[in-house]
Amino acid sequence: DKGGYKHFMAKEIAEQPTVLADALSAYLVGDTINIDQQAIDFTKIDRLTMVACGTAYYACLTAKYWFEKLARLPVEVDVASEFRYREPPILPGTASLFVSQSGETADTLAALRYCKGKADSILSVVNVETSSIARESDVALPIHAGIEIGVASTKAFTCQLNVLLLLAIQAASQRGEMTPEDRSALLSDLRSLPGLFNAALQRDATIEAAAIKISEARDVLFLGRGLMYPLAYEGALKLKEISYIHAEAYASGELKHGPIALIDKTVPVIVMAPHDALFDKTVSNMQEVMARGGKVCLVTNAAGAEVAGEGTWQTVIMPDVDDRLAPLLYAVPAQLLAYHAAVAKGTDVDQPRNLAKSVTVE
Ligand code: F6R
Repeated sequence: DKGGYKHFMAKEIAEQPTVLADALSAYLVGDTINIDQQAIDFTKIDRLTMVACGTAYYACLTAKYWFEKLARLPVEVDVASEFRYREPPILPGTASLFVSQSGETADTLAALRYCKGKADSILSVVNVETSSIARESDVALPIHAGIEIGVASTKAFTCQLNVLLLLAIQAASQRGEMTPEDRSALLSDLRSLPGLFNAALQRDATIEAAAIKISEARDVLFLGRGLMYPLAYEGALKLKEISYIHAEAYASGELKHGPIALIDKTVPVIVMAPHDALFDKTVSNMQEVMARGGKVCLVTNAAGAEVAGEGTWQTVIMPDVDDRLAPLLYAVPAQLLAYHAAVAKGTDVDQPRNLAKSVTVE
């Protein structure tokens, strides 16, 4: 049942405020995070290895920033198809964490089996609680996204981020890296995120207008820095898989190391950048693009739009949010851009060509 929406993807994007609120209440009782402290003791491990594919991999890349910044825990992230055959050494003191919506992705499951008996503990973050990956883990944390039908993952991504952030906060507290005040403030902001998701969804008309213009492009670049860098990859993946527009993502700082050669007036550059500590650097990257006739679509907040000033092609103004939560909130415009571009192109949004919802063969 599409609940009145044209596509499952549209419904799944729109239900994120409710789904996230439910997912949060499954894990948060006041300021207590409902994850078994004994089962996952971050004081006993020295490093975390995260493995996944596709969108789940981008959730892991985002979480690396959280675990390293908040909990000062070194994290390695790898795509499952590389990890499993590279046979990396797993040192004592390593916890390995596998993220998978379906819980059945062949490469991710094989990577998990490789870590068995080598890693101190095997954790997973899954949507399907009865899945192979959940069953074969020491601890499986459900994301509580509900059934996701659209092949392009949307609500599962934000719910993966939610659980990974809670885990990083838990790790930070256990390792004495986060003050109770900061923890409490961040959790309180997290609780208000469903409301901000609603506000983000209200930008739909502006995002749709930008997406319709973007749908005419053959190639699109996504740029992001820091926590927005993995999201740039996720935005590019969403756009290419459902609209079939060629999209690439780069860390903003990598632009001048090659990709800037691609810039001309036919290549829209989507910059995901809230006004954070790194914003000025991103603005100078944007100016490099604009100086070469590039068309910048800037997704930012009001303060960012003011600093960026004139000259952007399109601007989407997002609600203000704690910098650390921005990847969750900015996932919404990334998803909507892809969705509306695909609708404008008339592609099969829920069943894109050549793709399957669950990739059980490698
Ligand atoms: C993209 C997408 C895929 C999956 C990937 C992993 O929208 O859905 O990239 O994220 O195939 O699938 P799971 O999470 O089921 O392991």
